[in-house]
Amino acid sequence: MLTLCLSLILLITDNSQITDKKENVMKFELIQLPYAANELEPVISKSTIDFHYGKHLQTYVNNLNNLIPGTKFENMPLEQIVAESDGAIFNNAGQVLNHNLYFTQFSPKGGGVPTGKLAEAINSTWGSFENFQKEFITAGTGLFGSGWVWLAKDKNGKLSITKEANGSNPAAHGLTPILGFDVWEHAYYLDYQNRRPDHLNALWKIVDWDAVGKRY
Ligand SMILES: [Fe+2]
Repeated sequence: MLTLCLSLILLITDNSQITDKKENVMKFELIQLPYAANELEPVISKSTIDFHYGKHLQTYVNNLNNLIPGTKFENMPLEQIVAESDGAIFNNAGQVLNHNLYFTQFSPKGGGVPTGKLAEAINSTWGSFENFQKEFITAGTGLFGSGWVWLAKDKNGKLSITKEANGSNPAAHGLTPILGFDVWEHAYYLDYQNRRPDHLNALWKIVDWDAVGKRY
């Protein structure tokens, strides 16, 4: 019984997947937000959370659950699907992974600077946290069209900034995603209209460096 309970907990906490007993197929669930929808204001409004999390992310989750039954991806962890798929499955799996990481990296009590090993790695790679922030925002601002800017690490812990088009994620290139800013217009248009740099710069105020540091 204890083993069964632990297995169920692992299934639910790992990759937001649950088992549908009728079909015996893993299904992805909409993650829970670690804050109320209005708690990231004024950086991100409740309206943006309601649409971005409640509508856009829910649609990616639904699409993925509709696409994978009967394929080799149906019981695969999300990161592996992103690494091995293409087409519609890649687009939707990538966006579920992207948004799961995005929405769980913020806190109403966020902001400040990274600490510990992540801080040391950022400083040794970019010279200072401020230099890293500038390069990160420059990459996000310069990304043409829809996509993501990510801080990622390779298997040796080496950090880099990657620009990902559309629904891609560093996991598609064998990297581990650490911190991601969404530059799709749906992430900021209600609050900032065309002012993408203003939105990206404001996001530093809500980054939960404890949560992000654990990914490193
Ligand atoms: Fe998004």
